[in-house]
Amino acid sequence: MAAVPVDLLKRYEAAGQEHLLHFYPKLSPTEQEDLVAQLTALDVERVNRVFKTAIEYEKAGASSAAINPLPASTFETIIGEPEKEVQWREIGLKAIAAGKVGVLLMAGGQGTRLGSSDPKGCYDIGMPSHKSLFQYQAERIGRVSRLAGGASIPWYVMTSGPTRKPTEAFFKEHNFFGLPEKDVIFFEQGTLPCLTMDGKILLDKPYSIAVAPDGNGGLYAALRSPLSPSDSKRTPLSDMAARGIAYIHTYGVDNCLVRVADPVFIGYSITKGAACGAKVVRKAYPTESVGVIAMRGDKFSVVEYSEITEAQANEIDTATGELAFRAANIVNHFYTREFLESIESIEDQMAFHIARKKIPNVEIPSGEFVKPAKPNGIKMELFVFDVFPFTQKMAVLEVPRQEEFSPLKNAPGTGVDDPQTSKRDLLAQQQRWLEAAGAKVAEGAEVEVSPKVTYAGEGLEGVKGWILTKNGSADTLEALHLLQ
Ligand code: UD1
Repeated sequence: MAAVPVDLLKRYEAAGQEHLLHFYPKLSPTEQEDLVAQLTALDVERVNRVFKTAIEYEKAGASSAAINPLPASTFETIIGEPEKEVQWREIGLKAIAAGKVGVLLMAGGQGTRLGSSDPKGCYDIGMPSHKSLFQYQAERIGRVSRLAGGASIPWYVMTSGPTRKPTEAFFKEHNFFGLPEKDVIFFEQGTLPCLTMDGKILLDKPYSIAVAPDGNGGLYAALRSPLSPSDSKRTPLSDMAARGIAYIHTYGVDNCLVRVADPVFIGYSITKGAACGAKVVRKAYPTESVGVIAMRGDKFSVVEYSEITEAQANEIDTATGELAFRAANIVNHFYTREFLESIESIEDQMAFHIARKKIPNVEIPSGEFVKPAKPNGIKMELFVFDVFPFTQKMAVLEVPRQEEFSPLKNAPGTGVDDPQTSKRDLLAQQQRWLEAAGAKVAEGAEVEVSPKVTYAGEGLEGVKGWILTKNGSADTLEALHLLQ
């Protein structure tokens, strides 16, 4: 029986985590190898640091700075500003045409609330075409690329342990939805160990550590990590640099209206000289499950829906009669590559959020596997917006909700942010675009125009006078003609 490797034991003793080797003498040789490999690879000192900062931050009451709604002077809007929109679009399209823009999808979430075991992007919200969310996003990238004269737009897809394989398989099965395979780059966010309430790492087997995904803010560390074990020299950031990408539009997987590679948002952020940007819509009602962008002291920050107090959520802006905290975060962010490269230097200052959970684990010294009835430990997550307070130059853009935000969060039939509301909102958008171009959609008809035809309502002039009566999806104006 192999003895506990001395150096490893010393390192773990110094970190106060030597209990992880408690079962080592009783493990089989393969199990011993597994455990040693995990413990060698784990940056246990970083885990301790992350825990310490998270606890201190929590004790300090998140942040001592006062939280205030976003003042009007800190953001711009495209609502009722068509001229600005046109200008920003042009600037964005130029950057895309110059090959400087990449898009980054965060698709590491498990979609627990939706209740589907597939990655969320594979979901069919029931549109006439039965396209998946991934397919809409891919076709929008294709369309923007054509609008910008055929420039390539690399698509970085961040997955996680549970979503990587099924996501890659889905893309392959669908032939990358017509995009060049070389322009779709998968990578994986990291994990962090689950801890006891006082920071001791938990085991889920006598020879393996209990881990959980590190949150969508895990993006920043993942951008510096190898794309995969077989592609260990390239990282997402090195790939961006090699392609000359200067600007990155990042977004969440579950919004069927998402404007991927949005030239307006990109043009706006470039115009503002921003290192980081965010799009917002007006929050619909006080309990809506959205974070709001606000000021903590003089820094931009997001107050997450799980953190906002009831009083803040209900506060009314007396000047407008609207909710005071109404700048709803829709998980659409802009970054310069330079800013993404600089995040490593501030990472130790960003506090992870602590979630107290029931974490099944192997107890020491009994070796018994327990499924606790009450929260017994913590999972630590970084949020993608945790960089906002560290951003020197931040740009916020308000966009119309009906054109850009309808998230898929809940199971069918919930009535809020579910597949039916997604389908309703996407169909309504298609109808608005067609009618603005002079067509009529007959009452009850479900008509869908593919992003191959239009990205944001443009290019539909040919439909003037058409009365669309049949359900269906069209990839060309000719196919749309047949739906009359
Ligand atoms: C998120 C936002 C919230 C916003 C709301 C709008 C965060 C932390 N919160 O909340 O402010 O108002 O969306 O719909 O961004 N993801 C990963 N890895 C993870 C966890 C999530 O990649 O470990 C991805 C998901 O796949 C998704 C996105 O991050 O694309 C948002 O995650 P989700 O869990 O849906 O966030 P919400 O709680 O809805």
